[in-house]
Amino acid sequence: MDMRPIGVFDSGLGGLTAVRSLRQILPEENLIYFGDTARVPYGGRSRETILKYARQDVRFLKSFDLKAILIACGTVTTTSLDTLQAENTLPIVGVVEPTCRRALLVTKTKKVGIIATLASIRSGAYEAVLRRLDPEVEVIGKPCPLFVPLVENGRFRRGDVVIETVAREYLEPLKATGIDTLILGCTHYPLLTEVIADVMGPEVTLVSAGEESAFELKRLLKANGLRAEETRQGEAEFYVSDQPEDFERIASVFLQEDIRHVARRIDIDRY
Ligand code: DGL
Repeated sequence: MDMRPIGVFDSGLGGLTAVRSLRQILPEENLIYFGDTARVPYGGRSRETILKYARQDVRFLKSFDLKAILIACGTVTTTSLDTLQAENTLPIVGVVEPTCRRALLVTKTKKVGIIATLASIRSGAYEAVLRRLDPEVEVIGKPCPLFVPLVENGRFRRGDVVIETVAREYLEPLKATGIDTLILGCTHYPLLTEVIADVMGPEVTLVSAGEESAFELKRLLKANGLRAEETRQGEAEFYVSDQPEDFERIASVFLQEDIRHVARRIDIDRY
């Protein structure tokens, strides 16, 4: 039994997709969430800058007595997971491997699409893991750099003409390739599930990075005897690096609970 919290971080709101899954599958666990809202998006930056930011995010989270960290960010996972794992003794889980495993279970044609940030697609990390797990898989990657800023600005709903136009431009060529599975390789993208599904159609199965990593974390906690008392109700604390109000408003909608006046602002440059 281990009652210490789990640290979860992302560049902004995206990691809340993992929080939502963690709340469902590990409701007894306490969570400390950090969204680096002052510096989002990470996805267009260099590997060096992303690693620098990620190290600061981890240092902030480690100011709490944690039992594990979930990198609820595709961009940090694809560019920095190995380095962060090598530098820290506490277990750190990323989103790439669990998501790839799920996609390979789902695909029938072995033709898998992957949408993610520029940094993630450039890293080739999703593709490398998919190929390692199944050398026969065909992978088609596509960066969607406008998705994260639009989501952060609340433009993620079906019927929003801006996001629907951008989605069609990015996704119609991908649909034309005949993929049967699409990895949402950035944790912001599940907020766009309806918009993406409308373009891709029912014959393409969407696989979300945040959800799959929550299951991976559950397995890891169980295997290492780190689960909390299962009868309790866990709590979540939210920290951001810029003004909390916008984050709280969108997070409340997304998590379907009122987290207004709950998130606290920290100075990430101190870490
Ligand atoms: N949620 C992050 C990811 O999964 C967003 C990246 C960004 O900040 O551009 O890649």
